[in-house]
Amino acid sequence: MTSPESPVPDPRDATLAGSVALVTGAAQGIGRATAVRLAAEGAHVACADIRDTADTVKQIEADGGSARGVWVDVRRADAWSEAVDDVVAAFGRVDLLANVAGVVNLQSEDTVTGLTEEAWDEVIATDLKGPWLGMRAVIPGMIEQGGGRIVNISSLAALRGLPNLASYSAAKGGVAALTRQAAFEYARHHVLINAIAPGTIDTPILADITPEMRQANADAHLVRRLGRPEEIASMVAYFFREGAFLTGLTYPVDGGWSVKGNF
Ligand SMILES: NC(=O)c1ccc[n+]([C@@H]2O[C@H](COP(=O)([O-])OP(=O)(O)OC[C@H]3O[C@@H](n4cnc5c(N)ncnc54)[C@H](O)[C@@H]3O)[C@@H](O)[C@H]2O)c1
Repeated sequence: MTSPESPVPDPRDATLAGSVALVTGAAQGIGRATAVRLAAEGAHVACADIRDTADTVKQIEADGGSARGVWVDVRRADAWSEAVDDVVAAFGRVDLLANVAGVVNLQSEDTVTGLTEEAWDEVIATDLKGPWLGMRAVIPGMIEQGGGRIVNISSLAALRGLPNLASYSAAKGGVAALTRQAAFEYARHHVLINAIAPGTIDTPILADITPEMRQANADAHLVRRLGRPEEIASMVAYFFREGAFLTGLTYPVDGGWSVKGNF
């Protein structure tokens, strides 16, 4: 990892080897793919989730990587401080944080008028307060050790109007704004903070959508297919490994959906 003031790195030296990454949502989907990718690039990975991450840890270890399962409920400040203490005790530091854990509203219709307060609170607590608490938990240590990198997972719903995603788009728009704000505050301490806005990615989060919705989602991308979790993981790895001149962005990884016209 380089600080913004480091000399231009030799690309052959770009590596995550020996760095320590904390990845939330690591039990499945994009978080799991991110944990596996960062470990394959040589990072020690803390696989954090409210659910058991033993399978992810097992996969990383079988591939010769270094990983540890860490329990976290991203909605709770006390859980974050315990998780970070656990990672620091095991691996010595946190260099990289990927805030991937998230939910969509399955409790009620997700429109402004159809939403329940409970559903709103749950989505905002997980998808917006969670990344805030995560950044708050790791940034002081990153400042102390001279720098760090953070990637938050936003969504195309932060950038475009989409059906039935009112609470989700509010949370993910908040993530984009908070990412920009945090980047502004902490770049001077060499903590670089970006977000990714995925298109529709084929993960268990899509379990309850109809085949018709799945096809419509695939067709919405210029590449006319759903994204793969590994394609988001690879962008996270890029920000961590090589993104020394990148901060405050919300970068679409969406098969061209966000640049599509109405033809
Ligand atoms: N899949 C998509 O199409 C898509 C598109 C845009 C953005 N995203 C975002 O990407 C992220 C990952 O999505 P995914 O598709 O892999 O979802 P997923 O449902 O497959 O995985 C989400 C993970 O987050 C964990 N989680 C949920 N609540 C938690 C909590 N309170 N504390 C800790 N962990 C918790 C779950 O246990 C699960 O392992 C989410 O933030 C999601 O909003 C997904």
